[in-house]
This record gives sequence, C-alpha cells and structure tokens, in this order.
Amino acid sequence: MSRSVPVGLGARAYDVVIGPGLLAEAGRRIAPLARRKRLAVVSDETVWGLHGAALTASLEGAGLAVHPVIVPPGEQTKSFEGLADVTDRLLALELDRGDIVTAFGGGVVGDLTGFAAAIYKRGIDFVQIPTTLLAQVDSSVGGKTAIDTPRGKNLVGAFHQPRLVLADLDVLSTLSDREMRAGYSEVIKYGLLGDFGFFEWLETNSAAVLAREPAALARAVARSVEMKAEIVAEDEKEQGRRALLNLGHTFGHALEAETGYGAALLHGEAVAAGQALAFRFSAAQGLCAGQDAARATAAIAGAGLPTRLDEIAGHPFDAARLVRHMAQDKKAEAGQLTFILARALGDAFVAKDVDAEAVRRFLVSEGAQMHEGEGR
Ligand code: GLY
Repeated sequence: MSRSVPVGLGARAYDVVIGPGLLAEAGRRIAPLARRKRLAVVSDETVWGLHGAALTASLEGAGLAVHPVIVPPGEQTKSFEGLADVTDRLLALELDRGDIVTAFGGGVVGDLTGFAAAIYKRGIDFVQIPTTLLAQVDSSVGGKTAIDTPRGKNLVGAFHQPRLVLADLDVLSTLSDREMRAGYSEVIKYGLLGDFGFFEWLETNSAAVLAREPAALARAVARSVEMKAEIVAEDEKEQGRRALLNLGHTFGHALEAETGYGAALLHGEAVAAGQALAFRFSAAQGLCAGQDAARATAAIAGAGLPTRLDEIAGHPFDAARLVRHMAQDKKAEAGQLTFILARALGDAFVAKDVDAEAVRRFLVSEGAQMHEGEGR
C-alpha cells in the first residue's frame, strides 16, 4: 500500500515512505536506525494528544524506549528559546550520536527538531514523521532546518538531511480543511513549476485530494515528493534549480510579513496568492501567456485559496512596503530582487534581476496602494 521515494544524496540518501498506516509501521522502520534502541520524539501538544499513543505503541512494540519532548504548538516555538528548550531536554536525556531524534508534527516541529538535531553534539540522526500535508510534500523533505528570529523567518538554520521520512496519509484525516488547502498550495506548486501533466491532473482532482480520497491523496503527495526529491538530489544547497521550489514565496513572504505570520494568513495561503501573483506578473512582463496566468489563478482559486490581494486581511497593502519585504528576503542578492517566474504552466525559471519598480507598478495594478514619493 505504501511507496518509497528515494532522495538520491549519495552517502546521505534516504527514503520518503508515503502511504496509509505508517504510524503502525514506524517502530519496525525506525528501529534499524537506532543503535541504542532509544529515541526522543519531539512533537507539539496537539499532535501528541491526537497521535502520540499510536506512535508510542508502534515504537515500543519494536523494542524502542520512547522519550517524548513535547513543545507548545505554533510558530513562536520555532525560536532561539524553543531551540534552547529542546536541546536542553535532549541533553537531559543523555542522547548520544547512536540515538535518534524523531520530529513528529508539522513544519514548525520539523524545522525546529531538524535544526536541534543538526547542532546537538555537532549532529545527531533524525527522522521526520510529518503530520500536515504541507510538511509531507515540502518541509520534511530536503534537509532545510531553521528557526525564526525577530528579524524574519527561517534566518538561522542548517542543511541537515533526515535518515528517513514517514508520510502517513491517515494522519491527515485530523487536519482541518483550511490546513489541507494550505498544504495543497505547495502541491499545485509542483505542477506549476515543472509538470504540466500533474497540473492538469490536479485541475480535475483537487476536490478529491482535499477530501482526502485515498488514491488521489496518495498520488498528489507521491508526485510532489518525487519532484522535490529529484530537485534536491540535483541541487541540495540551493545553488540553482532548487530555488524553483520558492515559486510564489517572494510575494508570499511579503504578504506574511505584512499580516504577522499568523492565523490571518497561513504560509500555504500566502504562497497560493504568491503563485497567482507570480504568474500574473510573468504575464504582465510578457514572459508567459495571459491565459496561462488566468488558468493558474483559476486552479488555485478553485481549491479555495486566495489569489488576489483584496482577499487577504490587511488589504489594501502598500506596494512599497511589500517590495521592501521582498528586498529583505534572504534570497535577494546584491539588492536585486530574485523571483521565480514562469514561461508557461509547468515551466518556471529563476529570474535574478527583477526590477523593483516593475514589481511596485504591478502590485498597484493588483490593487495595492502606492504612497506618493515612494518608488519613483
Ligand atoms: N521549501 C523549499 C525548499 O525546500 O527548498
């Protein structure tokens, strides 16, 4: 029932296993990695409350001693304080390099735990068990780990690949519809950036994926992970092609920064609007056909995700402020704005020299305000 997608990174290669019922198999699959037959499981209160007993039973059934490290849910946990807390608790458990740390949760838990594992005693092995759609198709795969600082999100971190990723599709049944849609934004991203056939399939199957119909969900997650694995294997440290995975993220991060990185606009929702904006900006620049931008927008909107600024709390946004957030984006090099733009549906590319003034004008055409004297 499950399938494995290999992430081909030589000595650090690992599998992403996708399927139903994987919590029950976690013990059997993780035990060979844990030399001392003990592991810490970092999770948040919500996920642990829903699924902690099932995971513990599976791990203990395979002869592993389980040490839960439970943290508060929410983005604020992905901080220096949260990192200090988790590493201190791992030290108190006297874990050493023969042990395993397991991240059991969404992107916050995965990013925080992965970073703690990267620096704990100069690096300890870790396993990802992602429990949100977004984490299953994006953040648990590829080894990007990080915490936020008051200056921005994901600004302190490390590349640290997991030894194994277990994406249990059954766990998504407890996810809210809104969280499903937010994760779906990253699924459609793979179609838009590099697989027109997948995009077309999603156009007709988005409702089935969002309704968690097993076959559709499995196909959507597996194709997304396959594409991510292929890109990461080719460009682990984001020297080139991996940046394509940031489609929609430059516009999206600016919107998140303006809305406070909270429940007003989830990351996936920001990326959804960001992808629609990236396609329409590409069309406005004459890079892709207007009908492709319209079709991308319709597919994103059809999944119940925002595609326009006026759908987002906080509108009207200030165009100059949005562009300033983009310029501070860690992907900006030497003052030039880097965007992932599109030539067509399924054909995105990295544009490193995007003119900030053109972006400002475009945002105004999208309904943002232009304050007088700014951006001229
Ligand atoms: N989420 C983008 C990446 O992993 O590169």
